[in-house]
Amino acid sequence: MAEPTLKKKLQDKVAIVTGGASGIGEATARLFALHGASAVVIADVQDQKGQDVAASIGAHCSYFRCDVSDEVQVKSLVESTVQTYGRLDIMFSNAGILSKSMQNVLDLDLYNYDRLMAVNVRGMAACVKHAAKAMVEGGVRGSVICTASVGATLGTEIFTDYTMSKHAILGLVKCASMQLGAHGIRVNCVSPGPTLTSIMNASTFQFQSVEDAEKLQSSLGLKGGKEVMVPDHVAGAVLYLASDDSQFVSGHNLVVDGGFKT
Ligand SMILES: NC(=O)c1ccc[n+]([C@@H]2O[C@H](COP(=O)([O-])OP(=O)(O)OC[C@H]3O[C@@H](n4cnc5c(N)ncnc54)[C@H](O)[C@@H]3O)[C@@H](O)[C@H]2O)c1
Repeated sequence: MAEPTLKKKLQDKVAIVTGGASGIGEATARLFALHGASAVVIADVQDQKGQDVAASIGAHCSYFRCDVSDEVQVKSLVESTVQTYGRLDIMFSNAGILSKSMQNVLDLDLYNYDRLMAVNVRGMAACVKHAAKAMVEGGVRGSVICTASVGATLGTEIFTDYTMSKHAILGLVKCASMQLGAHGIRVNCVSPGPTLTSIMNASTFQFQSVEDAEKLQSSLGLKGGKEVMVPDHVAGAVLYLASDDSQFVSGHNLVVDGGFKT
């Protein structure tokens, strides 16, 4: 029997994926390329990983070093993409970091707070701003997707700054979607639950294996079935928001969490 052919959802689209060198960003960059994107630009600060991922995806993918907390670098990322590929259709603003330590408000380290906010909030705002400017100038009815978190609508015991930063993404998405609708630009966010990526490895959870992740996910009450949540589960939701399948969806927070604490 012949293999079913994949219905490509991003034919000829040009996309930027920040934080694309690993985890959710990497899985999404791969899926965008699989779905016919004519160019996928991975923006990250991990040069070797970013270059390796881009090379493994193929000729349609490239790597651009960009620290999203620096607006000048974000502007140059967007300008270089438009110069090289002619337009920008999709911005997946996904780069983010987790709290340096398990702190509650009594021992909040404000130095770490500033760095986290610079990446998670300032970085997202810069990406939305410069992507939207390029889309408006180019007359592109584009799609902007930010990565928030289940922590965007919940309180947490131990990640005060991270939780605050993800709440801010909802405000950014709500404002930008209202303001950009007149230009035909959609702005949404995706909110993953705990997902097996290096952010969790490096964090206080110290995931080393699928078993570790399963233990955490089950202790948090995830109901996604037997499977542990991995980046591909989130990438599928991002593809939906990036493609015309979600043509009339804007200002939405798409939660992908297997039923986290519900
Ligand atoms: N993994 C989870 O459980 C989970 C849950 C909810 C939300 N998220 C969010 O998902 C997003 C992606 O995280 P992930 O889980 O894939 O982790 P990850 O660590 O695998 O990926 C994050 C990527 O962002 C890059 N990055 C970090 N700081 C950067 C900067 N200043 N400029 C550019 N790139 C930078 C990293 O180098 C890395 O490649 C983050 O915004 C994170 O907050 C993750």
